[in-house]
Amino acid sequence: MTERVRVAVLAGGPSPEHEVSLQSSQAVLDALPKDLYEPVTVIIDRQGRWPVELRRGLVDVVFPVLHGPFGEDGVVQGHLETLGIPYVGCGVLASAVAMNKVAMRRMFLAEDVPVTPYVWFTGHDWRGTVDHWGLVKSLDWPMYVKPAGMGSSIGISRVTSMEELRAGVDLALSYDRVVVVEQEVRAREVICGVLGGFDTPDVSVPGELIVPGDWLDYEAKYLSRVEIAMIPAALPERVAEEVRELALRAFRAIGGYGLSRVDFLYEEDAGRLYVLEINTMPGFTSRSVYARAWGASGVPYPELLRRLIDLAFARSGS
Ligand SMILES: Nc1ncnc2c1ncn2[C@@H]1O[C@H](COP(=O)(O)OP(=O)(O)O)[C@@H](O)[C@H]1O
Ligand SMILES: [Mg+2]
Repeated sequence: MTERVRVAVLAGGPSPEHEVSLQSSQAVLDALPKDLYEPVTVIIDRQGRWPVELRRGLVDVVFPVLHGPFGEDGVVQGHLETLGIPYVGCGVLASAVAMNKVAMRRMFLAEDVPVTPYVWFTGHDWRGTVDHWGLVKSLDWPMYVKPAGMGSSIGISRVTSMEELRAGVDLALSYDRVVVVEQEVRAREVICGVLGGFDTPDVSVPGELIVPGDWLDYEAKYLSRVEIAMIPAALPERVAEEVRELALRAFRAIGGYGLSRVDFLYEEDAGRLYVLEINTMPGFTSRSVYARAWGASGVPYPELLRRLIDLAFARSGS
């Protein structure tokens, strides 16, 4: 047998999405074709401690199956850059931009990617005024209050009054010094997968998330351990095409590489699409909507893993 490629699968980490990462990484370990790859799991603990010091020569490539701050926001990516080890997925800048809901929206707006009406402010701004209404008055109720840099709906509240807004801002400020408040768009939730390099990435068929209740809170998303989705999404061909086109534009706007899942709000009556966010390491089990969207687009999960690892080597030129 020829030498197998040694893949370090990074899992866990100090973000609140530790558990979700353990599930995603286990799926990657199970599905990596063992004739080609020799996987090594590296479980980073909740304090951010690594069980082993990675270095060149020890492993050939790293698959950071980490969600949220630390693993998905450019920090680990920057560490791997300093070590000179090829890694799967977006680089430092794209990861950092995608994890910050203010930076992400600015990049989107500069490239004509439609986003929902929003405002942002810091904890200092909020505490420095009694006119809290003044900070959000350009928006209508209901609103979503979000910490700028989080994922998996952590720290997010849907609010319908000033009292709820205040509680929501306090919660969001416990996660980040910057808060984003968005106007609610009553819409269907659509996703689209992107896979490939900088220049000519591929897009999957769109999928639709079935949302139980008002919105996808953490519990609905992960604790039920299933993402309920329709793949492909039942959309008119014109809308599906626009989803795919906007997914590419969003990926390009952040300088994406490798993979991303672009999330949309589709306002059916008005026929309008908004990009809600781009996730550079979406939920990644074989049953995740990202993997299933690729399955329905002719790329089975093990093939998806192989392509991502090839892309990691292609970027590093090794
Ligand atoms: N402006 C909005 N209009 C309607 N629903 C929203 C809006 N913002 C967030 N939501 C709901 O909240 C969920 C989480 O929001 P999102 O911005 O994707 O945060 P996260 O990065 O934590 O996933 C969405 O999947 C959606 O159900
Ligand atoms: Mg989301």
